[in-house]
Amino acid sequence: MSQLKLRALTPAFGAEVEGFEPSSPLDEEVLAQLRAAFDERSVLVFRNLDIEEDMQRSIVYGLIGEEVPVELAAAEKRPRVVSNKMEHGAAPYGRLLFHCDNMWARRFERILSLYGVQVEPPSAPTTFVSMGETWDRLPEEFRARLEGLEARHGFEHKYPNRGGDQDVIDAYYDTSRSTVRPVIVRHPRTGRMLLYVSQQATIEILGLSSEENEALLAELFSYLYEPSTILAHEWRTGDLVVWDNITTQHGRGTVTLDGPERTLRKVGGPFNLDPDEVNIPVFQKAAGK
Ligand SMILES: [Fe+2]
Repeated sequence: MSQLKLRALTPAFGAEVEGFEPSSPLDEEVLAQLRAAFDERSVLVFRNLDIEEDMQRSIVYGLIGEEVPVELAAAEKRPRVVSNKMEHGAAPYGRLLFHCDNMWARRFERILSLYGVQVEPPSAPTTFVSMGETWDRLPEEFRARLEGLEARHGFEHKYPNRGGDQDVIDAYYDTSRSTVRPVIVRHPRTGRMLLYVSQQATIEILGLSSEENEALLAELFSYLYEPSTILAHEWRTGDLVVWDNITTQHGRGTVTLDGPERTLRKVGGPFNLDPDEVNIPVFQKAAGK
């Protein structure tokens, strides 16, 4: 069995994995090491891999201890490419504010990954923040102010996009959708407490005036997006980045259509089975963690 080496990418979260050799099936002991690293660090980076979509999916599912189903649900197997050069590439230009994918939906992928199919430097990094790391450093008295609060995430024809500018990609919808969750949630697998609001998707904190909302969200975002805590991944061809879509938020800098090629293959893991599994108001449970 190969012994993996981990290199921390920020003091609190993110790690580069060295010494990983993909195999089919994946070695159980290697997977156990990777799972422990993933639960601890939330974002894993692998360099110089030459992998197809199936192997990417095996790694993604394996990291949370699940088998890839023989028959994938349509939403889980749809091919997704983020590219500024390929036809039908998703998010081909612009900047993405921090978000969890489908934060506004009742069901969402628990884990996500991107693989560098073709990347010409310099390329806009994918950036990450950890909502667990943010919770850990919130002052005690500020945590107490958040007790029992709930936030609504979603869109009313477009994302609320706090922190937006002209580079930010905005999607327009013919409907409005939203989901209410506690501001502090507990991660269903790791038990970590998370500060669960985002720049892209959080519409409001319930029960506050619009002035109070703006002020509180600005304060929360100042902790979440504290520049010294952001992990920025600079892409190269052959990179695989896998992240926990509950613990972490991702965003990216500005991509242009005429800039260097940035083609990434996106593969997600299983959706949450219980729509309410991250709706647990943690202050009614045991304190700690
Ligand atoms: Fe995303």
